[in-house]
Amino acid sequence: MTKNTKKPWQGRFSGETDKFVESFTSSIAFDKRLYEYDIQGSEAHSMMLNSIGILSDKELKDILSALEKIREKIEKDGVVWKDSLEDIHMHIEHELIEMIGDTAKKIHTGRSRNDQVATDIRLYVRNEIINTHESIIILQKTLIKLAEKYSKSIIPGFTHLQVAQPVTFGFIMMSWFFMLERDKSRFLDSYKRVNISPLGAGALSGSSHKLDREYTAKLLEFDGITDNALDSVSDRDFIVEFISNSSLLMSHLSRFSEEIIIWASTMYNFVDLDDKVCTGSSIMPQKKNPDVLELIRGKTGTIYGQLVNILTIMKAQPFAYNRDNQEDKPALFNCVDTIIMSMQAMNICLENLKLNEKTTKISAKKGYSTATDFADYLVKKDVPFRDAHEIVGKVVAYAVSKNLDLDELSIEDFKSVCEKVEKDVFEFLKIEGSVNSKKTAGGTSFEEVSKQIKKAKNIIKEYEEK
Ligand code: ARG
Repeated sequence: MTKNTKKPWQGRFSGETDKFVESFTSSIAFDKRLYEYDIQGSEAHSMMLNSIGILSDKELKDILSALEKIREKIEKDGVVWKDSLEDIHMHIEHELIEMIGDTAKKIHTGRSRNDQVATDIRLYVRNEIINTHESIIILQKTLIKLAEKYSKSIIPGFTHLQVAQPVTFGFIMMSWFFMLERDKSRFLDSYKRVNISPLGAGALSGSSHKLDREYTAKLLEFDGITDNALDSVSDRDFIVEFISNSSLLMSHLSRFSEEIIIWASTMYNFVDLDDKVCTGSSIMPQKKNPDVLELIRGKTGTIYGQLVNILTIMKAQPFAYNRDNQEDKPALFNCVDTIIMSMQAMNICLENLKLNEKTTKISAKKGYSTATDFADYLVKKDVPFRDAHEIVGKVVAYAVSKNLDLDELSIEDFKSVCEKVEKDVFEFLKIEGSVNSKKTAGGTSFEEVSKQIKKAKNIIKEYEEK
């Protein structure tokens, strides 16, 4: 082994590491992604070492300018990554020693890779929470646009995938908006548990040097410091939380995908997906497939897999740090990439979605979707709801036998089942009437949906003014 690639922990060893073992244990292929956070952590740690007299002003200056050069070198792809140097932490320390010699060897005073890596990932997750939050806002804005455009477009609402009651497309878009709002609040809530500094916890028990943990926390813009060194280096709860929040977000995206895929099918023909987001078949010339949405639905499995992955990595680990923890990063990085890409893909699909308003309106009329409105009408005429339910059931069965819609029956037909039915019943059987009768807060009437849109816009405005 050349002097250049000497491992920082080499002292205790007389033999060299097996080449295969070197590559098996190395994480540099994926954790080089943390370089910026590792440098920031080292900058803060050195400034703190200077403040407590471990590094002189000159030494600090040399370290900081070397760290800046290393940052530039990495950004220009100038660093040769080597399995023999295991991970990003050892690479950066090695580069530092190469550049400024002995002074660099002081930087690891009072620090272990255990608290170093915990700091790096917290900084990384903190940033990714912000990115995910941003991507949710972008999608929410698209939903608001669709809701406004189609605020009065009627479409069947389903339960059990059977036509249930007519609703507006704007109402559906708003339901998705508020689902995403919960995702946003879950990510934001987790931020306060992520944004705490473990730096200074050392290997597991703290340090005999008088490290000023509050100072490094402040430099790194953490909200505070962790309370217990052992917990600081063992804790990966914040990764579990991030992937768990991502799983729920993905489950929402998969449900949106499924809805749109059904709506875009030939039999439904409720929406047109733009050519931009579809692909064809290699054998069936007529096909236009919603692959993007199918992939989002499929990638939900990837994220759930990463949740089980990280939970299993953490399960039954003895305290404190174990190398198992190195596997947290592939799980986390894969989750981040998948989420960000899927959000973008969903946004492109929605931005280019066209509603076939004629078809949805015709379908909303089918399946006796105003039957509940008829029952409610009878209740207003003093018929107890249970009796009304039965009467309407009979009328529907009659209409089915005649192959007619409810509003195609004659007043005599209605009267033959219930004397109390008057001509005004026809108003209640119209789908517009049905939609607009749902005036309870949060309902599908035009008025209520416009209140929901207003609230949604305020949520976004408040966020953008912050
Ligand atoms: N590459 C390691 C990881 O990601 C860094 C911590 C190594 N610590 C140790 N005690 N070997 O977990």
